[in-house]
Amino acid sequence: MKALVYEGPGKKSWREMPTPRIQRPTDAIVRIDTTTICGTDLHILKGDVPAVKPGRILGHEGVGVITEVGSSVTTLALGDNVILSCIKSCGHCLFCKQGLFAHCLGDEGAVGIGWVFGHLIDGTQAEFVRVPYAETSVHKLPARVTNQQGVLLSDILPTGFEIGVQYGRTKPGDVVAVIGAGPIGLSVIMTAGLCGASKIISIDIDANRIAEAQKFGATDGVNSGQADWKKQVLALTDGWGVDVAVEAAGLPTTFDMATQIVRPGGNVANVGVHGKSVELRPQDLWIHNNLRERVGEPLARRCETG
Ligand SMILES: NC(=O)c1ccc[n+]([C@@H]2O[C@H](COP(=O)([O-])OP(=O)(O)OC[C@H]3O[C@@H](n4cnc5c(N)ncnc54)[C@H](O)[C@@H]3O)[C@@H](O)[C@H]2O)c1
Ligand SMILES: [Zn+2]
Ligand SMILES: [Zn+2]
Repeated sequence: MKALVYEGPGKKSWREMPTPRIQRPTDAIVRIDTTTICGTDLHILKGDVPAVKPGRILGHEGVGVITEVGSSVTTLALGDNVILSCIKSCGHCLFCKQGLFAHCLGDEGAVGIGWVFGHLIDGTQAEFVRVPYAETSVHKLPARVTNQQGVLLSDILPTGFEIGVQYGRTKPGDVVAVIGAGPIGLSVIMTAGLCGASKIISIDIDANRIAEAQKFGATDGVNSGQADWKKQVLALTDGWGVDVAVEAAGLPTTFDMATQIVRPGGNVANVGVHGKSVELRPQDLWIHNNLRERVGEPLARRCETG
């Protein structure tokens, strides 16, 4: 089969790879129909995620058709069209039972790490993928949902909502600023209204992305390439800053920006994957702010489609 393979920082190739086979009774093989490129794949390609070794098939999002199931799989059948969660779930461990699938203790990839596709085991940017713990790691796609819509539920949309909007503790009336208007930032923007955001400010260095963000629900846009960007953001609040600042780019500078614009008592939600150290500056922030900061990996189960 053909697959997109990581060959080391800055290098990838579309090449012939062995077609995956069932290895454990709980596996399924899925023929990928639809997949996407996540900002995290871009981080991997920059060398920001050293756990990904050369030779790894990339990708952790996908919709496809089941072509083979292991001997203990009873609730999935050949021909089922399924969404793959980017997060594995054995369904039995302590953390799966608590709904903390991102920390699943199943030993596929690594114990305690839920994100394994395109990271610790081969991923979805391929013609076929082996899905461990298939019964508890895929969702059948209802006929009324297209594959292109469904694939957004593998990672991007639930991640934006859960890590950005929910971890940001967004509440009715809040002003939410979203730094980075890639697919993740746009998902935060799209779903912030579900928790009652009254104003959603999209911040990016790319004017086109800021303009796109308005189609997804941003009420305002600020270009952080401009020297007075912070003043512009504060002018959109009562001068004290935003209630929720969501970091959705994964850079030291964008994390720092989030801490600069959040109001006293506000929340910073960090969605970005960071390849370099980020600085939380308590020496400056303590007197100005008592912000709360949350980071995370999606549980990828909150936006069920069934
Ligand atoms: N926590 C998780 O589980 C999880 C899941 C998926 C993605 N992510 C991470 O979320 C982040 C965003 O993903 P994406 O797919 O939207 O990426 P993306 O690369 O498409 O988007 C990033 C955006 O940030 C903007 N940006 C860059 N520098 C900026 C600056 N100085 N000021 C303002 N904007 C700036 C870029 O112009 C771009 O629009 C990535 O770090 C990705 O790894 C995390
Ligand atoms: Zn992702
Ligand atoms: Zn588990």
